[in-house]
Amino acid sequence: MRDEITVVRVSASDVRPLRAEVLRKGLPLSESVYPTDDEEFTTHLAVKVDGVIVAVGTMFPEPRTTGAREQRIRGMAVEASARSRGYGGAILSAFHKIALRDGTDVIWCNARARAVPFYSRHHYFVEGEPFELPNIGRHFVMSRRVRKS
Ligand SMILES: CC(C)(COP(=O)(O)OP(=O)(O)OC[C@H]1O[C@@H](n2cnc3c(N)ncnc32)[C@H](O)[C@@H]1OP(=O)(O)O)[C@@H](O)C(=O)NCCC(=O)NCCS
Repeated sequence: MRDEITVVRVSASDVRPLRAEVLRKGLPLSESVYPTDDEEFTTHLAVKVDGVIVAVGTMFPEPRTTGAREQRIRGMAVEASARSRGYGGAILSAFHKIALRDGTDVIWCNARARAVPFYSRHHYFVEGEPFELPNIGRHFVMSRRVRKS
């Protein structure tokens, strides 16, 4: 049986090194700064193993239509040797719990094509057609309804 995974709340500066290594490799650390990183409403989560951060993710309100109660997930990154152990999934589950508590209706993200199975396993559905992000590749908008209407 897998050990229980503990997800903790951390700061923007805590998540950036892994975010940069996994998602913006070879680029300056400034490329790994998101505009709302330091806002009070932004949630940064991490999984630590022996005190070292091995998985991170960030969630913040970003409605796609005016007034919608939507949050966006960005910067999901797990250290290469720590993948497929449930750490990323534990962070997604924690975001879902926070969103439920906050009265969020929908969580969405721009998922890299390779990460689509990961989000699908966590009840996210693809919306619309794929699109390309320069230097990163093919993405899909994926979303999960939090509150049943
Ligand atoms: C995507 C990511 C965050 C998932 O975190 P994780 O801790 O490995 O996820 P979990 O262990 O909870 O779940 C793993 C499952 O996700 C899916 N998955 C994850 N990465 C995948 C990939 N590259 N290709 C196919 N399926 C993948 C699989 O269903 C996998 O199942 P398995 O463990 O039985 O193989 C992590 O693999 C990662 O950092 N990838 C590189 C960066 C990235 O793509 N981030 C997402 C940006 S949108």
